[in-house]
Amino acid sequence: MKKFITKKSEELFQELSQYLVDGVSSSFHKAENESYPIAMTHGKGSKLYDVDGNEYIDYIGGFGPMILGYAPEAVNVAVKKQIEKGSQFSTPTQQLLDLSKKLTEIIPCAEMVSFQSSGTEANMHAWRLARAYSRKQKIVKFSGQYHGWSDEQKISITANADTFGTEKAPSRIMTTAGQRKAATDDVIIASWNHTDALETLFQQKGDEIAAVVMEPYMCDEGPIMPASGYLEKVRTLCTKYGVVLIFDEVITGFRMALGGAQQYFGITPDLSVFGKAIAGGYSLSMVCGKREIMNCGVHPSGTFNATPIAVAAALATIEELSKPGIYEQMDKLGEMFCNELALLSKKHGIALYTEHHGGIIQLEMGMERAPKDYHDYLNHANIQMYNALYLLMRDYGVRITSSRGRIYLTTAHTEKDIQKTMEVFDFVLPMLKTEK
Ligand SMILES: Cc1ncc(COP(=O)(O)O)c(C=O)c1O
Repeated sequence: MKKFITKKSEELFQELSQYLVDGVSSSFHKAENESYPIAMTHGKGSKLYDVDGNEYIDYIGGFGPMILGYAPEAVNVAVKKQIEKGSQFSTPTQQLLDLSKKLTEIIPCAEMVSFQSSGTEANMHAWRLARAYSRKQKIVKFSGQYHGWSDEQKISITANADTFGTEKAPSRIMTTAGQRKAATDDVIIASWNHTDALETLFQQKGDEIAAVVMEPYMCDEGPIMPASGYLEKVRTLCTKYGVVLIFDEVITGFRMALGGAQQYFGITPDLSVFGKAIAGGYSLSMVCGKREIMNCGVHPSGTFNATPIAVAAALATIEELSKPGIYEQMDKLGEMFCNELALLSKKHGIALYTEHHGGIIQLEMGMERAPKDYHDYLNHANIQMYNALYLLMRDYGVRITSSRGRIYLTTAHTEKDIQKTMEVFDFVLPMLKTEK
């Protein structure tokens, strides 16, 4: 197997770095352990093509939006049609009605919807709604979970075993220079997947807590499933203490199931936030939920909310995802991916663990079981080995997310892609032995 030559990517990055801060337009676009990111020219289906002419099988999916693969025909047609009519009116449209109605039919908690352009903005709006409705101020956020990059949101996200604190007292970790610490004063950091800790917190501070916000399947910083009965218990506690339960489904939405994780797990939050895959590659996000909360007097603003292009893309994406067999096919490919990788791990004597849910595959290196919580993950997963794997896979033509063990399937992936991916794993896994 030949290592890819990526010289033009390197040169482009060096030149870009003179003009663009960090040489990239988002911190997501370059992994910490890579000296330069690969620059792409185009993508189609499950493949991306770089400036040196290399073809990659891609499992990053533009960090989530590309659930239908790259340049999906149905979305292209809908967007081209809308471009001819105009990209931005700042008025209601018939399509906006069609989309709003459709979303209330497919998302369990959605009695009403509100559109924004990014997950960060939608979470910001959801937190504001919860505060206005409950007339309380505190938001419970779990360590290791990411909800956006505003001052209030970007707290206690990444950590390592030394900085994490304890399960009972997770650390408050500011994330960036320039972050206004006071903005996080009303955010309480808790440990996810621990019902007793949450119950104690509610007993002590329930009359101050406006909302609990969580990814129902923790995904952003590395996938961890909710413990058996956890979501049910949180639902019960929130109802008992008058706390708004917000599911951040920016990743899980349209990916675990058409109706998101709330459909997958059968637990209905009060509010929910969607983004990424909702519009198959165009900027759209949404808050949805109970009518009485959505309608409690908080008015969303935003010049680019629900542009006609994004609405057209979302309608086309949802129509594609509604076709029979779509999620079953992703499930089948996920099963194949996990089973074959487990065999390769045995063959090469490398400890790893995989499982899959809808269009999400989780991969832990150095563990042979699923992590119970973020603490367990930080203490037991071999993150260094995963990072080395990320670079090696990239060098031989397979793109998986760096550091986090989160692998996205799309409707465009095929069994042939999985087979080719396994050939690359088979080739690179033995090179990881030094990372043990
Ligand atoms: C779970 C989750 N919530 C919110 C966000 C923020 O979304 P955006 O990057 O669109 O602002 C992300 C982004 O990665 C996310 O993974």
